[in-house]
Amino acid sequence: MGSNTFGRAFRVTTWGESHGKAIGAVVDGCPAGLSLSENDIHQEMSVRRGGRSPLTTPRKEPDDVEILSGVYEGKTTGAPISLIIYNRDIDSSKYGPIQHLMRPGHANFTYLEKYGIFDPRGGGRASARETACRVAAGAIAKKILVHHGIHAITYLKELSDVKASISDRISYTNYHTASICPDEQALCLMKEKIEHAKVQNDSLGAVIESQFFHLPKGLGDPIYEKLEALIASAMLSIPACKGVEFGAGFKAAAMRGSEHNDIFCLNDTGSVVTETNHSGGVLGGISNGMPLVFRVSMKPTSSIAIPQPTLSMNKESQILTLPEGSRNDPCVAIRAIAVVEAMASIIIADSLLMNRLSRL
Ligand SMILES: Cc1cc2nc3c(=O)[nH]c(=O)nc-3n(C[C@H](O)[C@H](O)[C@H](O)COP(=O)(O)O)c2cc1C
Repeated sequence: MGSNTFGRAFRVTTWGESHGKAIGAVVDGCPAGLSLSENDIHQEMSVRRGGRSPLTTPRKEPDDVEILSGVYEGKTTGAPISLIIYNRDIDSSKYGPIQHLMRPGHANFTYLEKYGIFDPRGGGRASARETACRVAAGAIAKKILVHHGIHAITYLKELSDVKASISDRISYTNYHTASICPDEQALCLMKEKIEHAKVQNDSLGAVIESQFFHLPKGLGDPIYEKLEALIASAMLSIPACKGVEFGAGFKAAAMRGSEHNDIFCLNDTGSVVTETNHSGGVLGGISNGMPLVFRVSMKPTSSIAIPQPTLSMNKESQILTLPEGSRNDPCVAIRAIAVVEAMASIIIADSLLMNRLSRL
């Protein structure tokens, strides 16, 4: 199974299956001298963890990350950083009765077609449990970003017909990272919608928005490794992510040039900025110093308790009924907030390091 590694200078490899003994990540290329503790990583993990709220899966993983290598006396040494998370809250009994069925919206059909073998316990490698490793590695990337003065906010922007209204003045300084959405009124409505879908044994999708502030100008390479291309690829590698847009995004298609063009001007300190940010902080694939703004569309959770018609692996018509007590997120986007921010942080940390090669 290929492609378990990504990044160029800051390279992340993840390994492990949902119901295996452990999962983990190896981060190669982290510069020496970064202060790093397990506690730094645990803070990020708590945002992604399930079992904290009725809006997420009841699977209660402590997600304790152990650092096995690459750190000495609280500082990175430049050697590979190996992270391990033991799987503790495992219940594989639920998968036996349904493992001969193609699960709508899931990866078991395509994995079986490709590899001829599939670990059905909790979805194996296809499980979003793997995203815990991305958040752990992302915590290290975020420390590099903070060192460069870069901060991020990530939240639910849209859910069903509820749209969060986020003030332009919102910034990381007045934003609580564990919040699902800074618009309290919209958050209440979103919670109601999720509870309602849950009662109906159904699930919901959502749009997540992320903003990264104080990126230096110059990140990203102009042709095949445009900053948008790298971020989009990272986002689309997140399970259940079905779309990405930057700045004005798909709305740009309905705008005029006179409306969409971001006009250059000087700010109070004499730096070149733009009056608007329809480009989402990237021009020609290169960061322009404005906030990097993008949104991702997350599909509704595939595992629902409503019985659904399907096929068995022998191609016979069947009804898929999830076993009583199956544990699923009614809206995966909530836990994906931390994953989106982690993946973008890794891409930006990688781009910061790569940018050292750009000129004398
Ligand atoms: C944080 C997170 C949690 C998820 N939890 C679930 C879940 O509880 N149940 C489920 O059916 N899918 C869940 N997913 C999505 C599936 O992993 C994903 O839809 C599936 O592997 C098929 O991949 P695809 O949707 O990218 O095609 C989750 C995704 C993320 C990012």
